Amino acid sequence: MGRIISVLSGKGGIGKTVSAINIACALNSLGKHTLLVDGNVSAPTIHIHLGAKDIELSLKDALNGNIHFSNLIHTHASGLQVIPAKTSASDLKNLDFNKLKEVISDMKNFSDFVIVDTCAGINDESLACLEASDEALIITNLEEATIDATRKIIETSLELKKDMRGLVVNKSGIWCHELNEREAMNVLEQPVIANIPFDRKVHKSNLLNHPVVYSHPHSKVSKEFFNLASKLL
Ligand SMILES: Nc1ncnc2c1ncn2[C@@H]1O[C@H](COP(=O)(O)OP(=O)(O)OP(=O)(O)O)[C@@H](O)[C@H]1O
Ligand SMILES: [Mg+2]
Repeated sequence: MGRIISVLSGKGGIGKTVSAINIACALNSLGKHTLLVDGNVSAPTIHIHLGAKDIELSLKDALNGNIHFSNLIHTHASGLQVIPAKTSASDLKNLDFNKLKEVISDMKNFSDFVIVDTCAGINDESLACLEASDEALIITNLEEATIDATRKIIETSLELKKDMRGLVVNKSGIWCHELNEREAMNVLEQPVIANIPFDRKVHKSNLLNHPVVYSHPHSKVSKEFFNLASKLL
């Protein structure tokens, strides 16, 4: 049985997309067949990060019922299989989030892992991805202002009876008012399973259109992503 894992956060810009890309690539290079899906259909970015800007067909075509998702797979140089979502402003008027849930649910047995990048916060779009998933992986930082939004996404995942994979702290050490890990675990009642440092190699890898675990596999940030992927196995 495949495992569908949604990568979620309470607020935008926390690092869901970077985390989803690198977790998926790390799992794939650890020998698990992995499909990365851009479930952030309203503001997709995976095709830009991974150098697939020119694709014609994408997840929205499966949502329109025009094509099966298996015909939308793009293979990155790393070997990772990706279903990007590239949308125009007019596509956004007709997005059917029930169909998003249905299409992602259908992916379950396609591979060992389906890693779903989602849009920030709690809304019909992120809920469609979460409902289609078996497991929730929450990305957060330790900034006081983020913690409240993180709590809401945890509560929602628990209400939907999703298996909680714990908290991934990303870009730690750069904010003025940060909790420490222990305080965050106490407040959020979830374990921190990874602490991913802020690292400019993430930006360098973006410019190369590669996941950082592929372009800079021995960097500290990549080691943390590999450790996290191993914990998910
Ligand atoms: N560990 C990191 N080190 C350095 N930069 C990072 C790291 N994680 C994310 N970033 C950068 O932070 C920015 C936001 O990251 P990302 O796009 O992954 O966030 P997001 O949660 O997916 O945002 P959105 O909610 O808008 O989809 C990007 O410029 C990304 O390159
Ligand atoms: Mg994103």
